[in-house]
Amino acid sequence: MLSLSLILCVCRSVKRFGMEVKMNITYNQENRVFKLDTPNSSYLMGIVDKEGFLGHIYYGKRLEEDGVAYLMRTQEAPFVPEVNDRERGSFMDSFPMEYPTHGTGDYRQDCLSVRTKDGYNAVQLTYVSHQIYDGKKKLEGLPATFGEETECKTLEIRMEDPILSLEAVLSYSVFADTDAIAGSVRIINHSQEPVWLTKALSGALNLDEGAYDVITLHGGWARERHIVRRPLEAGMAAVYSRRGESGHQEQPFMALCEKTATQETGAVYGMHFVYSGNHLEAAEKNQFFRVRAVMGIYPEDFSWKLLPEESFQTPEMIRVFSCEGLDGMTRAFHTLYRNHLMRGKWLHRKRPILINNWEATYFDFDEQKLLDIAKQASALGIEMLVMDDGWFGNRSSDNMALGDWQVNEQKLKGGLKKLVDEVNALGMQFGIWFEPEMISPDSDLYRAHPDWAIQIPGRRAGLIRNQYVLDISRPEVADYIYECVAKVLRSANIAYVKWDMNRPLSDLGSAALDADRQGELSHRYTLAVYRMQERLITEFPDLLLENCSSGGARFDPGMLYYSPQIWCSDDTDAIERLAIQEGTALLYPLSCMGAHVSDCPNHTVGRTAPFETRGYVALAGTFGYELDVTRIPEADRNSIPGQVRLYHKYNDLVREGEYYRLASYSENRLYDCWEVVSSDKTEALVTYIQVLNVPNRKSRRICLKGLDPQKRYLVEVESPDGEGDAKTAGCFPQGSVLLGSTLMNAGILMESISGDYVGKLIHLTQVQ
Ligand code: DGJ
Repeated sequence: MLSLSLILCVCRSVKRFGMEVKMNITYNQENRVFKLDTPNSSYLMGIVDKEGFLGHIYYGKRLEEDGVAYLMRTQEAPFVPEVNDRERGSFMDSFPMEYPTHGTGDYRQDCLSVRTKDGYNAVQLTYVSHQIYDGKKKLEGLPATFGEETECKTLEIRMEDPILSLEAVLSYSVFADTDAIAGSVRIINHSQEPVWLTKALSGALNLDEGAYDVITLHGGWARERHIVRRPLEAGMAAVYSRRGESGHQEQPFMALCEKTATQETGAVYGMHFVYSGNHLEAAEKNQFFRVRAVMGIYPEDFSWKLLPEESFQTPEMIRVFSCEGLDGMTRAFHTLYRNHLMRGKWLHRKRPILINNWEATYFDFDEQKLLDIAKQASALGIEMLVMDDGWFGNRSSDNMALGDWQVNEQKLKGGLKKLVDEVNALGMQFGIWFEPEMISPDSDLYRAHPDWAIQIPGRRAGLIRNQYVLDISRPEVADYIYECVAKVLRSANIAYVKWDMNRPLSDLGSAALDADRQGELSHRYTLAVYRMQERLITEFPDLLLENCSSGGARFDPGMLYYSPQIWCSDDTDAIERLAIQEGTALLYPLSCMGAHVSDCPNHTVGRTAPFETRGYVALAGTFGYELDVTRIPEADRNSIPGQVRLYHKYNDLVREGEYYRLASYSENRLYDCWEVVSSDKTEALVTYIQVLNVPNRKSRRICLKGLDPQKRYLVEVESPDGEGDAKTAGCFPQGSVLLGSTLMNAGILMESISGDYVGKLIHLTQVQ
């Protein structure tokens, strides 16, 4: 029997401001079950037996009651140790531990390993107490989701290993507006001796027997975040980064979905890591056919010394459950990130249309060249000039000068302020590039401080792009670099910073760390990046910060906490971008995807796609230009005002609307299609890209999504030049009004377009 009064006192399904609070956390003392509810999902954990193991019970569609602790199977052999201590080891290796630990008989993937000064490694956690409160605490020094007391609720479960005098606080926060649970763990050493954490992952996801697929986002330089889906077989499926950055190669993300799950249907469990350094995502199907996935800081090379009463905070892991396929997972992540992770004045604002000189000039520019670009650009409606790499020290190629953050006045005659003022006088804002975390061997900084580079004494550190990584875990190094950056920003009216990072970490060694702390370097480095960026946005709250890492090697939720936009990829080819942007948008709102129109033949793949198509693809992100506007073909230049018009007309919708994937070129190899619907469902924009034309198909049927079935919508093909010329044909029912239900079920017809790499925008507006 449930103790009703007890449940009522912790259950806060109250009405606030007339609205039902859709999230809840309860603890039922009778059956010792925690129940976490999001609007459409429930997550249940239970405390079992006298020893107080915390087991995972259920994660899935929302349940209306908590009496399902039988799912932990403690009544099945080998039984809990209290009943059958003879088979304790068998129990440990089969029980769905909520936060599995190392060394006491659970041989599956675990989350926590602790080495004592005597060299032992075992740890076992049992329940001590818990608290449930409104709101969510900050994670000290780490990016993390946030919410007001009315927006989210948090459960903290205190666990302990009495032998080690080690405490672990497992935190779970649920949100009223999205089916996401944010979790992290704080580990505290209450013993008299130091201990070393050799693995401190952020959490596990235990699932029952089932046929699952694993979805990850895989890539490389200029090929980031391609969606990969494969079956979860017996054994392990894992992705990771040990590069000291989240990396081009694997997004810190993994989803497990029912084999039958589609874009719109079926159960999907998504896990995303709010962190920008080394990471591990591993899913394992065990001998009993059950599944456990773990996520956290990559454990190899990691260790963290905890002195008495010190604590270690793991980064946050987001769990999302969707019973509406990948679309549902995407919406849950987008809502979480837009409402509870991204910050700052620019978050909900239209960003200035920028022109960046990287692909226009590379290192070969001076102030006159930049002003020529700015003059043309401003006349065409572009709103900001961004000066990329090459403006400082003697940086004439990527071989030198990183660390020498003084303006090169031979290149920029008259200095930076003069240039910025002149650009401002053209009615444009000014932005600038930095790569603060790096040092070139050929730099004044390196000559003065060779030990500031991350390296192992006596071993020649490996160069990548002819540069080393600065040891910003040392406060004096981080302070020096921060001051260099800030001094430049204080010296002129600079509205935007592109913070780049162009190589992974290697040869890990810090001159400032003791031998038993060298394993802390990579995490300390990531914490230092966060500290520097927090300092930057605190000192310059109006600054628009864009993170970047050789394209998109650090496109992760951690960086999103500091910058509302991140450069997606160095591949600016419109067709290559389809897969990159599809994978990125699987998790991230379009408002944060750095996307620009560049010149053709494309500098990465040599492809020539129509200027118009390049515009349509870039309009799905932050939008800007990456070309020499003074040298592109006149027809392209003349198209810019039309694209600028489209940006101003649709950016509010693209930035703030709900994103839906309608077709994937990565899957069908012929065409791509996505849609954004305004939150009040009065307007939608469909982007259709026909990559390859094929014979014998006059039109293709596309069913829309997310509209109000009862509303009537006018369907119009958007004209690229705003004048409704012949190019506006190509979609049925162009110019007609149909119900949302018709458009979603019967769909629209997109006529085949002559040629390849061509596209159309379809605009829907509610007419009643
Ligand atoms: C890599 C970035 O992704 C590019 O956009 C450009 O800023 C270069 N670095 C500059 O070195």
